[in-house]
Amino acid sequence: MNSVDDPDVTGGAPADGSIGKVLVVVPTYNERDNLPRIVARLRAALPEAHVLIADDNSPDGTGRIADELAAEDEQLHVLHRTAKEGLGAAYIAGFRWGLAEGFDVLVEIDADGSHQPEELPKLLRALSEGADLAIGSRWVPGGKVVNWPARREFLSRGANVYTRLMLGLPVRDATAGFRAYRASTLEKIGLSDVDSQGYCFQVDLTLRTDRNGLRIVEVPITFVERTVGTSKMSGKVINEALWRVTVWGLTGLPRRFRRHRH
Ligand code: GDD
Ligand code: MN
Repeated sequence: MNSVDDPDVTGGAPADGSIGKVLVVVPTYNERDNLPRIVARLRAALPEAHVLIADDNSPDGTGRIADELAAEDEQLHVLHRTAKEGLGAAYIAGFRWGLAEGFDVLVEIDADGSHQPEELPKLLRALSEGADLAIGSRWVPGGKVVNWPARREFLSRGANVYTRLMLGLPVRDATAGFRAYRASTLEKIGLSDVDSQGYCFQVDLTLRTDRNGLRIVEVPITFVERTVGTSKMSGKVINEALWRVTVWGLTGLPRRFRRHRH
């Protein structure tokens, strides 16, 4: 715990050992009813952490609610983006903000309650034990999904099989959106040429982390399907993921082949 004479007592200083200041980035698009709940759960689960809401000018007024919540909480921040540019773009903007503000750990979490803030300490523990990226995984032993439609489970499992096949990633849940990155990981992989817009951003950063020789650890989590609002998954999101993973796989093949020859 912080002592009262710790000068950094208001700065999100470490409560959990050596990992440093934590920023949780929450991307939102039309999450008016979910936002107050996820913020309350996050602040309770990790009282020292700061939270950044990255809203894409949601038509339902999520951004205004975010501002109202932030007015009452010094550890809550809002990034207003002008238009819906996709999950990947929102996270990149949030990460840039967090890196510029000097945070040591950048967390990803959905706003709809599918990822449970109460499981975040497990992810942070994996970082303090040496991971460069901790992934909250549905598809490792102990991981679960609750109330997910069979169609979505099939899509996620299929996407992960295809991703493993094409990219050879040592990860079971490469599309997971519940993660903790060390700032040093994001700095090393570089964000400036990431152009994945949608959910394939998750695979993109997993691939970059792996290709930079950094350590990825999967932590089993329970994913609970949202009860309020609707998913933003779309045909466009799936198509982008499919073509990008295929291109990364094909352009990466010569390198994998060389690596396996000796
Ligand atoms: N700012 C912003 N802009 N936020 C977005 C956008 C966008 O274009 N698209 C989605 N979001 C936000 C949502 O508001 C929510 O907080 C979070 O991103 C996840 O969106 P959902 O639409 O609820 O995703 P899902 O439940 O269908 O998909 C889940 O599984 C995917 C595949 O495994 C998520 O966990 C994804 O992160 C994951 O990639
Ligand atoms: Mn969801």
